[in-house]
Formats: sequence, structure tokens, C-alpha cells
Amino acid sequence: MKIAFLGLGIMGSRMAANIIHAHPGDVTVWNRTSGKADDLVSAGAREAKTPKEAAQDADVLWTMLSTPEAVEETALGTHGFLDSLKKGALWVDSSTVDPSFTRRMAEETARRGIRFLDAPVTGSKEAAQKAQLVFLVGGSEADLNAVRPLMEHMSRAITHVGDVGMGSSLKVVNNMMAGIALLAFSEGLILGESLGIDRQRLFDIFIGGPIIAPIAGMKRAKLESGNFEADFPLQWMQKDLHLAAQTAYEKGVALPVANTAKEIYLLAARYGFAELDFSSVYDFLRKNSV
Ligand SMILES: NC(=O)c1ccc[n+]([C@@H]2O[C@H](COP(=O)([O-])OP(=O)(O)OC[C@H]3O[C@@H](n4cnc5c(N)ncnc54)[C@H](OP(=O)(O)O)[C@@H]3O)[C@@H](O)[C@H]2O)c1
Repeated sequence: MKIAFLGLGIMGSRMAANIIHAHPGDVTVWNRTSGKADDLVSAGAREAKTPKEAAQDADVLWTMLSTPEAVEETALGTHGFLDSLKKGALWVDSSTVDPSFTRRMAEETARRGIRFLDAPVTGSKEAAQKAQLVFLVGGSEADLNAVRPLMEHMSRAITHVGDVGMGSSLKVVNNMMAGIALLAFSEGLILGESLGIDRQRLFDIFIGGPIIAPIAGMKRAKLESGNFEADFPLQWMQKDLHLAAQTAYEKGVALPVANTAKEIYLLAARYGFAELDFSSVYDFLRKNSV
């Protein structure tokens, strides 16, 4: 089986490495910015110059790209892969995108006789590295079964949520809650500290308790050290809250808290936090709230 993997950022580079480890010699990689494929080429991958070239002999093509716009450009742009994938090939999109976009891409593939799964992931940089991701899959059981062994090289669990678009649906709900939860904890820390409560005590009391979501505990080391090197860049959390808000608009659902959270992350991104981990929103708020 020939595999193409497109998008070698924080997540994609680590996911591709796990596939290459299991299938040396069968993987072609591509990234918009050159240089990011070097380690993977040393591990046995071939590097393509364009998405179109990467797709040429692929049975399965995987994408792990930042935004719906990035996915659309890579699939359908001037050097896009969709018109060079062979009929019957399978495109698996693990990028976090909205369900409407996913369904539109599925229509584009179906028109060309190509199969499609949306398969976004939960778990961050370390989970990607250690093959501990959780796939949230939308699409047919048969298509999922065709790539299940590949997914198993990257994950600890695979959840088949439903038809095309349902993986993306669950993912936007997941990240919306993660973004709000981190903000709730950040504001609690800031108020607690301003009242003179020791920060260590705030961590010790709240992390692991019933009030605060476990994701805050996972970010404890970053919050304590002030080293916000990105596992999950803040700009993509703002994007994910935007995708949730847009999806809610399409459904006529009100999301007052998520929309406020989205704007806070946007301000943080604008003030220099975009490429830091999303937990740096605490630092942004602390510097601007007190
Ligand atoms: N990091 C996490 O913890 C995490 C967890 C779950 C899901 N996700 C989702 O996974 C996706 C990737 O996240 P990441 O953390 O790996 O982000 P990242 O490190 O910023 O990587 C983004 C990737 O998208 C590519 N890209 C951006 N714009 C592009 C365009 N116009 N055309 C082609 N390629 C483009 C980048 O290429 P360049 O190298 O050229 O910039 C890079 O390969 C996002 O949808 C994110 O929301 C992330």
C-alpha cells in the first residue's frame, strides 16, 4: 500500500513518523515549507515537491493541515492533489475543520470516484509522538476498516462517530469545551492570586478536584514554569472556537460563552501569543487583567 502524508507540522510530522516506522519505503511526504521533511526522509520517506506529485501513486492520502483554507488549497489549488489521486484511492483528513467543510470535501472526492474519511484526533504533541492519539472518524465502516491498521500505528483508540462529517462534528465540540475550560481556570487563578492565595495552593486544590477540567492539570507544568512552547498553538484554538461558532450559526444554536472565549483567544493571538501554546492565554489575561 502506497501512502502519502501531507502537512508536517507539530502533529503531522509525528504522525507521519509513526507510519513510516511501520511502512518504511511506502510513504511519500509533503509540506508547504521545505526542510520539515528532512528527518522523515532520513527515516525512509520520499519527499514530493507538490501535493499533486505526492498523490500520484497513493492508495491512501492523509492530510494534517492547519485550517479549512489550508486543506482546500492543498486539495484543490493549482498543485492540488485531488485531481491526481487515482479512482478508488482514499483521502483521510485529520485536520480540525468544520463539518460543513468536511461534507463539501467529501462531495468533491465522490465526484472524482475517490473515497473519503474525516478523522480528526484528540491528544496533543506528546500523544502524537507516542502513538497515543484518539481518532474521531466520520465515513463508512468499509473505508475505516481499510485504514484501521494505519490508524493503529498512530493511536490508542479509534471512535467511529457516524457518517462523513461526524468526526469533525465531535471534534469541534471537544475543542470548544477545551478552550472554555482553560479560560475558566485561568480566570480562577488570576482572581485567587489577586486575593493573596498562593498559586501552588490554587493548583493543589483545584487540579484533580471536581471544579476544574482535567485539561487544566495537563497544562500545569506550562502554567507553573511560564514556558509556553506550543503543543497546541493558541491560534488554532481561536480557529477551533471560530469553527464551533460558525457551525452553531449554521444550526441556529446560540453559543454565548464560546463566542466570548473565541474573542479572548483572538486578542491573545494579536498581542503576540498566536504561536505559543493555547494555555498561554492565562499569561495574556494575567498581564492585562491585573
Ligand atoms: N497541536 C495539537 O495539539 C493538535 C491536536 C489535535 C488537532 N490539532 C489540529 O491539527 C492540525 C495541525 O495542527 P498542528 O498543531 O500540527 O499545527 P502546525 O504545527 O501549525 O502545522 C500546520 C501545518 O499546516 C500547514 N499549512 C498551513 N497553511 C497551509 C497552506 N495554506 N497550505 C498548505 N499547508 C499549510 C503547515 O505548513 P508550513 O510548515 O508550511 O507552515 C503545517 O504543515 C490543526 O487543524 C490543529 O487544529 C492539533
